[in-house]
Amino acid sequence: MTAAVQPGYAGATAEAIRHHYDLSNDFFALWLDESMTYTCALWDDGPDAASDTLEAAQRRKLDHLVEGARAAGAGRVLDVGCGWGSLLERLVSVHGVGHAVGLTLSDSQAELLRGRALPRTEVRVENWLDHEPAEPYDAIVSIGAFEHFARTGLSRAERVAAYREFFERCRSWLPAGGRIALQTNVKGNNVRMDKQTVRDLMFIIDHIFPESEIPALAEVLEAAEKRFDVVRLRNDPDHYARTCGEWLNRLTARRESAVAIAGEKNVADYERYLGATVGHFTNRHLGLARIVFEAV
Ligand SMILES: C[S@@+](CC[C@H](N)C(=O)[O-])C[C@H]1O[C@@H](n2cnc3c(N)ncnc32)[C@H](O)[C@@H]1O
Repeated sequence: MTAAVQPGYAGATAEAIRHHYDLSNDFFALWLDESMTYTCALWDDGPDAASDTLEAAQRRKLDHLVEGARAAGAGRVLDVGCGWGSLLERLVSVHGVGHAVGLTLSDSQAELLRGRALPRTEVRVENWLDHEPAEPYDAIVSIGAFEHFARTGLSRAERVAAYREFFERCRSWLPAGGRIALQTNVKGNNVRMDKQTVRDLMFIIDHIFPESEIPALAEVLEAAEKRFDVVRLRNDPDHYARTCGEWLNRLTARRESAVAIAGEKNVADYERYLGATVGHFTNRHLGLARIVFEAV
């Protein structure tokens, strides 16, 4: 993919984002949970862990991040990378938020979401770099979008600069003490990779998420320095292994319908990507960071 990169923006282009998220809403609806949340869930790790469901684990994740951002009951909340809107819906229907704004680069996501006409919700097809809110926000949540904020092939310094730009913007939209709840994949610390793992990672970069490079946790934290304090941090790779495994099971169970919608090649590519990703989290080549930042 050779789309032009916006000046001042070092993340994946809108074309690269649409390559993935605009494949087909019906295709994603076949194997995501009913809320169409497309990020790692938060699984129950208590005595009932085995009987937990993807639906319940996704709700638990959304509520965990809402609580971290102190977004419940807030006047204005921003969701950077809102997907098909599961967080926006929960903010206005369960958590009493006055006005929820969601940013996405995917036309298909925005179309589906606008069709649902959620109350007190604004959906914008807009890069966070171009976002100019009329009023500040009380809280910001971003789930599974940060992975797209630095293009493949940048140096570490360039990635940190790109992430710093994001934190600068967020800081300018929040009051002192305002919070960001951020969930993102991060590079894992098991650097021993066999050839198949390397091939699968290259396949995912080339065919599934073009132009996107996953950050190292240290890069995320460095980029937020002097703007935000970290007040909570957890790493849940096993939660993403279980989530991807559940998505793969659902896709396999509905394979015939999936092929009818998206074609054999796409379905085979998604089976390979989801299966490989279960392995990457299990083997700690990837981690899953949930971080709460507080503006200083
Ligand atoms: C994996 S989806 C996650 C969606 C949702 N947060 C969820 O949990 O289901 C990533 C989202 O980030 C959005 N995104 C990626 N880069 C973006 C950018 N620069 N500005 C705004 N949205 C962006 C995509 O359009 C997509 O909606």
